[in-house]
Amino acid sequence: MTRKTHIVGNWKMNQKTKDINSFFSELDGSAPQFTCNAWIAPQAMHIPLAIELGEKHDIKIGAQNCSEKESGAFTGENSPASLKDIGAEFSLIGHSERRSIFNEGDELLNQKTITALNNGLTVIFCVGETLEERESDKTEEVVKLQMQEGLKNLPTDKLNKVIIAYEPVWAIGTGKTASAEQASDVHKFIRDKVAASLNFNPNELIILYGGSVKPSNVDELLEKPDIDGALVGGASLKAADFSKLCLAGSK
Ligand code: PGA
Repeated sequence: MTRKTHIVGNWKMNQKTKDINSFFSELDGSAPQFTCNAWIAPQAMHIPLAIELGEKHDIKIGAQNCSEKESGAFTGENSPASLKDIGAEFSLIGHSERRSIFNEGDELLNQKTITALNNGLTVIFCVGETLEERESDKTEEVVKLQMQEGLKNLPTDKLNKVIIAYEPVWAIGTGKTASAEQASDVHKFIRDKVAASLNFNPNELIILYGGSVKPSNVDELLEKPDIDGALVGGASLKAADFSKLCLAGSK
């Protein structure tokens, strides 16, 4: 089966209402036809606006994070059930900024993944090694453990709602992209050596690369058969760049 290319924008804690309006009017102006899956994760409060403005381009909107709980006395959290209720289709889980800045560990990320899946969200589960781990040759070990711990005991009928994003921490927001070979090697490792042990169908598992993806390097990354798309931070904030990335993903 062919895995559809996904270009997913992670807007992080950026964009105000006026920026979001300008982003989509710029996209409207260039009227690109994307055949890839074009997705964006704005800040949670902007999800309804992004859904409304993105509909014309068939852009699906999701969250950058969600609670491991469905509801209750958890002040300040975003429930996956409520995210789904307002129209979010997916959530990132385990982004390296959540892991390192907010100390989210494997067990919590596992609970978040299960609750998100049980509430109908697709999960983009992020994994990746630090520079120190890569330099001490631990990339495969780290990625495997993050997947084994974060993706255990998932509801078996929802495994097709999990997407993996391989994002080497040293390449995020640094301008240093992993070479297409480096990225592809890890994607191949995930597909061939880890996926089946977690009951995923290796041929169907969608694996995105993330870390300083931009229009100038997206083609060589997407040429690799095991790279099914990109999770993009900085370059997804500009409509012109996002549009180029989505056009590259639509080839
Ligand atoms: P970047 O971010 O594209 O700005 O490196 C990627 C990410 O954090 O998902």
